[in-house]
Amino acid sequence: MTTPDDTMTSGTSGTSRTSGTVRTVVVTGGGTGIGRATAAAFAAGGADVYIVGRRAGPLQETAAAIAATPVAGDLATPDGVAAVVAALPEQIDVLVNNAGGNTDFDGVPDGADELTATADVWNRNWAANVLTAVLTTTALRPRMGAGGRIVNVGSIASPRGAGSYGAAKAALESWTVSLAADVGRDGITVNLVAPGLIVDTEFFRGRLSDERRMRLVAATATGRAGTPDDVASVIAFLASPGAAHITAQVVHVNGGAHSGR
Ligand SMILES: NC(=O)c1ccc[n+]([C@@H]2O[C@H](COP(=O)([O-])OP(=O)(O)OC[C@H]3O[C@@H](n4cnc5c(N)ncnc54)[C@H](OP(=O)(O)O)[C@@H]3O)[C@@H](O)[C@H]2O)c1
Repeated sequence: MTTPDDTMTSGTSGTSRTSGTVRTVVVTGGGTGIGRATAAAFAAGGADVYIVGRRAGPLQETAAAIAATPVAGDLATPDGVAAVVAALPEQIDVLVNNAGGNTDFDGVPDGADELTATADVWNRNWAANVLTAVLTTTALRPRMGAGGRIVNVGSIASPRGAGSYGAAKAALESWTVSLAADVGRDGITVNLVAPGLIVDTEFFRGRLSDERRMRLVAATATGRAGTPDDVASVIAFLASPGAAHITAQVVHVNGGAHSGR
């Protein structure tokens, strides 16, 4: 089990920060799906990349494959975040708040009355998609300076509507705007990338039916599902020096399934 205490020595890139030009990047949810592709893109560009998730297994496998440093922990709780950030470097250049997902795919508790079940469903999506980003950013903000980049991962579910999941991603969009105003004069940008259907992730927990997949693809202008690399490349651009005057924006990556005009 990888823990925050031993990650600095167990990772493959923890010692690779040899010059001031190497950027330090933290990707939450970096062990799988969109986060893995994003972490891989940064690592391929020479960054010192840290990936965070709850499960040690996927983190360690990804870290070994892409040359990143794994840090295991639950970012939805203050104690979990505190333990994770204790294992991260003192200077962070890029924070990608990608951890999250629709917790409804994990099911709802059996036997709960309707109000209790509803509260549980909403609390879980709020914790997974909003608290993870807000708590992680709160903890790491003091380690970021001019040129810093924060990229949140939202969803097409925000404008489309998708119960507590879509509402949580809408909250993430609102917070992106206020955070951008808070940190903008310190030279830090904050944006949100909103993917549509992205395959080759664990998002659907194996529950995406062929019928629903075909319906989602049919709604695109490109006629195909998105891939983790489609999202990773946009995140990488928003984190680049050339994107210095783009902040407080929602960038849609959905093949035209929804227009963000
Ligand atoms: N795939 C899509 O179609 C799609 C569409 C729109 C938006 N998105 C968004 O894209 C982001 C990435 O999802 P994905 O599609 O790549 O699915 P994924 O493969 O399930 O990735 C989600 C990652 O978040 C991590 N995570 C979840 N809760 C966490 C917590 N409390 N603390 C730490 N890590 C946590 C998971 O790792 P552990 O389980 O090990 O913690 C996992 O690595 C999510 O925010 C999702 O809402 C996905």
